[in-house]
Amino acid sequence: MKNIAIFYASTTGKTKCIADEISIHLDELKEYNIRITGAEYMSEYSNIIFGISTWDGGSIQEDWQKIWDEFSTIDFKNKTVAIFGLGDQKKYPDKFVAAMRPLYDQLKKAGANVIGFTSTEDYNFEDSNAIVNGEFVGLVLDLENQSEETTSRIENWITALKKDFI
Ligand SMILES: Cc1cc2nc3c(=O)[nH]c(=O)nc-3n(C[C@H](O)[C@H](O)[C@H](O)COP(=O)(O)O)c2cc1C
Repeated sequence: MKNIAIFYASTTGKTKCIADEISIHLDELKEYNIRITGAEYMSEYSNIIFGISTWDGGSIQEDWQKIWDEFSTIDFKNKTVAIFGLGDQKKYPDKFVAAMRPLYDQLKKAGANVIGFTSTEDYNFEDSNAIVNGEFVGLVLDLENQSEETTSRIENWITALKKDFI
C-alpha cells in the first residue's frame, strides 16, 4: 500500500498530533497540512486520509473553509479515502464532530470510495450529523473527554483501513 497521504488542518495542534500518530502506523505516508499546501497534491494519491476538526457550533475548521472551493474541484474517482474527525462531545453534544459530514458529502459527490466508518458506541452525545446508516463516517476522536481511548481507537481503525486501501 504505497501512494498514501494524510491531509489535515489543525487550529490548536490536536488534529496535527493525531495525524502524526497515524503516520507512525503507515509506511511511506506523506503528511500535508492544508493550511500550507492547500489541496494541490491531493490528485497525486490513490489512498488518502483526511483529518478535520469541528469549530464554532458545527462548522468546518477555518483552513478547510479557506481551501473548500479548490477542494471541491478535485476528482476523487478511483481514489480510496478515509476521514478522521476531532470534536468535544461534552461541550458540543448536539454538533459533535459535525464537520466530518460536509467533507464526507463532498468526497462522495466527487466519486471517492469512502472507507473507515466506525461505531457510535462508547461516545456520549445528543446529536451528530456525522452519522450515516448508523455509523460515524470515519474515526471520531475526543481528546478533551476521552483521550485515554485515542491510541486504541487509532490502532483498530488503521488495522481495518489497511485491508481496504489499495
Ligand atoms: C470555540 C470552539 C468551538 C468548538 N465547536 C465544536 C463543535 O461544534 N463540535 C465539536 O464536536 N467540537 C467543537 N469544538 C472542539 C474542537 O473540535 C476540538 O477541541 C478539536 O480537538 C480541535 O482540534 P484542532 O485544534 O486540531 O483544530 C470546539 C472548540 C472550540 C474551542
